[in-house]
Amino acid sequence: MDRKTFIKTCGIACVGGAAMTTFLQSCGISKTITGTINNNDLFVALSDFETKAGNEIHYKKYVIVNNETLKFPICVYRHDAKNYTALWMQCTHQGAELQVYGDKLQCPAHGSEFNNKGEVTNSPASQGLRAFPVTIINNQLQISLKAV
Ligand code: FES
Repeated sequence: MDRKTFIKTCGIACVGGAAMTTFLQSCGISKTITGTINNNDLFVALSDFETKAGNEIHYKKYVIVNNETLKFPICVYRHDAKNYTALWMQCTHQGAELQVYGDKLQCPAHGSEFNNKGEVTNSPASQGLRAFPVTIINNQLQISLKAV
């Protein structure tokens, strides 16, 4: 490949990458947010689950909530408008951070898997994930973090 062809190919790849980033952001694929902590509660706006397509509102299956005071992120699943599950993203096998793939959380260390309720679906982990009580208050989720 000569220099001119190389530059042209790289330019097309860059434009493609930028377009894909814009597309993913507009689809709401980016699901990591920063939550607010007040006393022992983490607050997440219900609107953080919303994505808009024209005039229609769609909802993300989950958001991953970070906060600088948390050792691990918390994955919050939206089952429906009134039911949410907040899961500590630390594997119960040997403590690695989990990764989210749709309705399941996977451990990159040894392959354990958990469903969107935190139940073990694949070993070696034998214990479910830590789940936090979730209450809906004024268009926000209040996630109780007592004893994290
Ligand atoms: S630390 Fe997660 S499977 Fe071992």
